Amino acid sequence: RRWAEHGPVVRVRFADGRAGWVVTGYAEARAALTDSRLSKSGANERWRDGGQGRPEHTHMLDSDPPEHTRLRKLVNKAFTPGAVERMRPRIEAIASGLLDDVETRGGIFDLLESFAVPLPVTVIGEMLGVRDADMAEFRRLCTGLFTARPEADSWRLLHEFLGDLVRSKREQPADDLLSGLVRARDEQDRLSERELVTTSFLLLFAGHETTVNLIGNGTWALLRNPRQWARLRDHPDEVVGVVEEMLRYDGPVGLATLRYASEPLSIAGVPIVEGDFVHVAIDAANRDPQRFAEPEVFAPDGDSSGHIAFGHGIHHCLGAPLARLEAEIAFTRLVERFPDLRLAEPEPDRVPGFRFRGFSALPVTPS
Ligand code: HEM
Repeated sequence: RRWAEHGPVVRVRFADGRAGWVVTGYAEARAALTDSRLSKSGANERWRDGGQGRPEHTHMLDSDPPEHTRLRKLVNKAFTPGAVERMRPRIEAIASGLLDDVETRGGIFDLLESFAVPLPVTVIGEMLGVRDADMAEFRRLCTGLFTARPEADSWRLLHEFLGDLVRSKREQPADDLLSGLVRARDEQDRLSERELVTTSFLLLFAGHETTVNLIGNGTWALLRNPRQWARLRDHPDEVVGVVEEMLRYDGPVGLATLRYASEPLSIAGVPIVEGDFVHVAIDAANRDPQRFAEPEVFAPDGDSSGHIAFGHGIHHCLGAPLARLEAEIAFTRLVERFPDLRLAEPEPDRVPGFRFRGFSALPVTPS
């Protein structure tokens, strides 16, 4: 909000000394996200100053066309609304199982640790085809990595796990996403071994923390005003619209949208020179008063259409149908199981930083 006071495109110097443009306006954000002169190819590596100790990535979110088109096309088939809808019974069963455990334990619980974290990681693990026997290890590696302070070798361990998984699918294909990618017949579209691993890794890091935070941020937004929790409890059929407003009001992505100028350009009349970094502030754009009336108010019955919580343009979130379905099921099950849920901590700690929006923990009490 403070940056937006200086205009829709502002020059920001971050605490670590690095500088870049931040786009806070809604119209300007959409323009930036569809401008092909703003490149994603290697943007994160450039920004990270070499990115020591981390494996190099070659996945769709780090690439521009034509590479991006090839990498996205194959995976896309698994994420169409129809394909995702077939996951519904399985996601419902996973969500119910997790809430059974919470109910058995009783008392105050951390909604993130007990529910929002294990749900998406189990869903994506099953989609990729992680075997039941390996699921606990997979969950441990993923949740260990996506914490504020990951262990030093967790990147390497998860890459090794995914490498083994890809090799096992080559030897023994099954009916899962990775086996489908391994089996792809068309030489032109086939992903290399390395691309299979980095693509699996992308699905994890793009889809894990974001979905966790959508469930966490959304629960907080509802419980801050218990009337809204009660409204959803009494009208669970409204859940789809409620989730859209959660995405607009407090979506999981802030500045995690890095691009750099491969040619000079201007956004809203502000000249950007070649090589400059541009961050699109999705959270600020979704609260732009030029686009949304009363943007600072969480209003599930308002108009959230057109929000850009899942980005815009060719990199628009591939997992959006899955994230929406997981959130729909998570909230339907939560209000049904815990109709009188309350916040145990009115102002829980936010995860620091500008890239993602979420809480470190979300203690809640069943009544
Ligand atoms: C891309 C948000 C869940 C997979 C993106 C982008 C955003 C986003 C903003 C574009 C970033 C950019 O343009 O720089 C979200 C949010 C989610 C979510 C808010 C949850 C609420 C998921 C899930 C998956 C997923 C569940 C998959 C399992 C991807 C992939 C891309 C992407 C693969 C890259 C697409 C491309 O480069 O063409 N997401 N995401 N996301 N997301 Fe999501």
